[in-house]
Amino acid sequence: MDYYKAMIRALLLFLLYAYAMAFKSSNMSCPDAEREALLRFAGGFNRTAEAEREALLWFAGDFNRTVAAGFSSWEGKNCCKWEGVECNDRTGHVVHLDLQWRGIVSNRIDPSLLRLKQLSYLDLSNNYFGSISIPPWIGSFKNLNYLNLSHSNFYGMVPDQLGNLSRLQILDLSDNLLTLSNANWLSRLTSLLHIDMSSFMIDDASNWLQALNMLPLVQDIRLQFCSFGNFPQSLPHVNFTSLSLLDLSYASFYDYSNNSEVNPSLPDWLFRITSLQYLYLTFSGFTELIPSAIGSLASLKVLQLEYVILDAGIPSSLSNLFCKSCT
Ligand SMILES: *[C@@H]1O[C@H](CO)[C@@H](O)[C@H](O)[C@H]1NC(C)=O
Ligand SMILES: *[C@@H]1O[C@H](CO)[C@@H](O)[C@H](O)[C@H]1NC(C)=O
Ligand SMILES: *[C@@H]1O[C@H](CO)[C@@H](O)[C@H](O)[C@H]1NC(C)=O
Ligand SMILES: *[C@@H]1O[C@H](CO)[C@@H](O)[C@H](O)[C@H]1NC(C)=O
Ligand SMILES: *[C@@H]1O[C@H](CO)[C@@H](O)[C@H](O)[C@H]1NC(C)=O
Ligand SMILES: *[C@@H]1O[C@H](CO)[C@@H](O)[C@H](O)[C@H]1NC(C)=O
Ligand SMILES: *[C@@H]1O[C@H](CO)[C@@H](O)[C@H](O)[C@H]1NC(C)=O
Repeated sequence: MDYYKAMIRALLLFLLYAYAMAFKSSNMSCPDAEREALLRFAGGFNRTAEAEREALLWFAGDFNRTVAAGFSSWEGKNCCKWEGVECNDRTGHVVHLDLQWRGIVSNRIDPSLLRLKQLSYLDLSNNYFGSISIPPWIGSFKNLNYLNLSHSNFYGMVPDQLGNLSRLQILDLSDNLLTLSNANWLSRLTSLLHIDMSSFMIDDASNWLQALNMLPLVQDIRLQFCSFGNFPQSLPHVNFTSLSLLDLSYASFYDYSNNSEVNPSLPDWLFRITSLQYLYLTFSGFTELIPSAIGSLASLKVLQLEYVILDAGIPSSLSNLFCKSCT
């Protein structure tokens, strides 16, 4: 009896197993998410590399490539070998895209570039983007720490979305046709060390100074050739503890209510930034006296003042500053 029982049990088990196998083989696919995870694990780098290569080609395809001779090396499967492209050695992701001086002439930048999710360095400077505005989606590169869009004919307002670049350390937007009207986005760039907004029209952005004053690490602020509509004369709490360079040379000042140029006096907050080493005021539209407070800029190494109208001459505190060892 036991023998039959065991036989029947074995048979049942076999049938159960066979049924399970049959069921399984009729439906071999595992859940999509798990397949994706396994594929990524096994061959994901190649697949990502392929997707990134395509994104780069679409991006370049928008430019007139006869003009943009800089793209001649953009052929073949391995985009990490293309000129201007660098990948992370370990992950194979594109992390660095340097397209400065490539002769790009375009009025469009394809957002497919966003597929380069690991991008940390983007340089599109010294090209010609026919007066388009800076694409807001540039603010979605979460890992970006270097962004250079200088001298490329970008036009209009800087999009607020750039404030999402919380890892950005270097931002160069100089020498375009850009306007700053609200600077709130600036105060969110908490990693920023270096900012160049030369040639900006800072019309009624009364908060630009407060925004910069909230950046805990900023060392270098370049505002050459800017035209200011509202230059702050006071800043109650000077927060700049790391600021070593401030360039306001060739700055001009306007009263936009009656469209006339004005010549403000040098604001006293300038002389409370005690970390300043380089202060450039050449040809700026400031007038009136250099306050004796300038003597408190104890770290100052370079002060450029050419062509600033000095109504009251150079205060003795300044000669004290630069003549510590004079006899
Ligand atoms: C097998 O999977 C397909 C979808 O892939 C589904 O339509 C079908 O019902 C499944 N068959 C069984 C027996 O579960
Ligand atoms: C996938 O990557 C491996 C290692 O990098 C390489 O040897 C192989 O040729 C790649 N396959 C494809 C289809 O690119
Ligand atoms: C690309 O530029 C060349 C040289 O300036 C010009 O002859 C050609 O028409 C342009 N092609 C397109 C599609 O704009
Ligand atoms: C941006 O690129 C230009 C060259 O196109 C270079 O001269 C400039 O120094 C760069 N800016 C920064 C902050 O690296
Ligand atoms: C980016 O910034 C914009 C406006 O500043 C905001 O509305 C948006 O939610 C931000 N996006 C992300 C992904 O943080
Ligand atoms: C000073 O900087 C900190 C962060 O660096 C910021 O939270 C604070 O609001 C700033 N103070 C003023 C007066 O801007
Ligand atoms: C413009 O308005 C300001 C006061 O807001 C005044 O000081 C200045 O003289 C005016 N300029 C002209 C040219 O009217």
